[in-house]
Amino acid sequence: MVSVAILGAAGGIGQPLSLLLKLNTNITKLHLYDIVNVPGVAADISHVATNSEVKSFLSDKQLAEAVTDIDLAIIPAGVPRKPGMTRDDLFKINAGIVKGLVEAIAENSPKAIIAVISNPVNSTVPIAAEVLKAKGVYDPKRLFGVTTLDVVRASRFVRDIRPEVDAATLRVPVIGGHSGTTIVPLLSLASAKLELSSKEIEELTHRIQFGGDEVVAAKNGAGSATLSMAYAGARFADSVIRAMKGETVVEPTFIPLAADPEGAKQIRELGAGQLDYFAVPVELGPQGVKAIVQLDGADKVTDFERKAVSVAAEALSTNINTGVNFAKSA
Ligand code: NAI
Repeated sequence: MVSVAILGAAGGIGQPLSLLLKLNTNITKLHLYDIVNVPGVAADISHVATNSEVKSFLSDKQLAEAVTDIDLAIIPAGVPRKPGMTRDDLFKINAGIVKGLVEAIAENSPKAIIAVISNPVNSTVPIAAEVLKAKGVYDPKRLFGVTTLDVVRASRFVRDIRPEVDAATLRVPVIGGHSGTTIVPLLSLASAKLELSSKEIEELTHRIQFGGDEVVAAKNGAGSATLSMAYAGARFADSVIRAMKGETVVEPTFIPLAADPEGAKQIRELGAGQLDYFAVPVELGPQGVKAIVQLDGADKVTDFERKAVSVAAEALSTNINTGVNFAKSA
């Protein structure tokens, strides 16, 4: 029995994510929550011939019920970017939305695993942590910022210049955060030997960091990545659920490093320093984070990548503080 709530289920990400999770046969109960349009989305998806039960929850009045007895809550609620906006520009609106939703989860399913998609992830995850702390139910092992799309893009973009690579199985560790230069792909540690020139590495790194802008520009005011994000979100949710059921699964994701202080030492030495949050490859287990996976051959990390980590760490420090200060003062 696995119960999943999607908060923001009627949105651009929420709808395809709900559909993909309806196809996930490990899920028995799917709670779809939004402040608009969700009854139609839920009715539509509920006709798909898999065994899970789909229920619709509309507006604040039904929020508590939507997040009661939930194992996993996924949050794609909030406004997306328009051309010219950075993810940080979304903070003003999305910070309050995430805070309200996490409060409801803390009160009604204090042991739920929470996966935050709403941007800016670098700040919304610290907000979620502060809310959980204030409610006395914080467990750093159960809180995740979903950065899977960065990893998905890294695999796909490598394939664009190396057609012999299988995009579906190539793994590039992507560490740091989830916006612009805080996204650091470690191409030197890719699961396949890539033999990239310095120019190719620079161009690929930039494309992975700013890949979201390609979608924002192409949608020309109609939002940011939704379909590829739904794919990435469904993959992350599937990994979390398979781990709940006892499988060993590794996903890079933005987490509180307090989830595994011992395992965090390597990433701190690599440049995360004293930061409280960082995206790292994580071994998932039944309780959320089982361990931070040690980078295989960290000594192979190039000077270019080390410099990128230090640039990321500086920006992340500001993003994290912005989230913490908001939660403490709101
Ligand atoms: P959207 O505007 O299409 O959908 C957002 C949905 O959230 C809407 O249905 C809206 O009614 C709902 N919503 C607003 N306030 C709410 C509340 N208080 N409670 C519940 N639902 C609420 O936006 P889209 O494209 O689905 O993006 C959602 C978020 O995901 C944005 O913040 C975007 O920046 C972020 N995103 C994150 C990515 C990642 O890799 N982590 C990738 C792409 C987008």
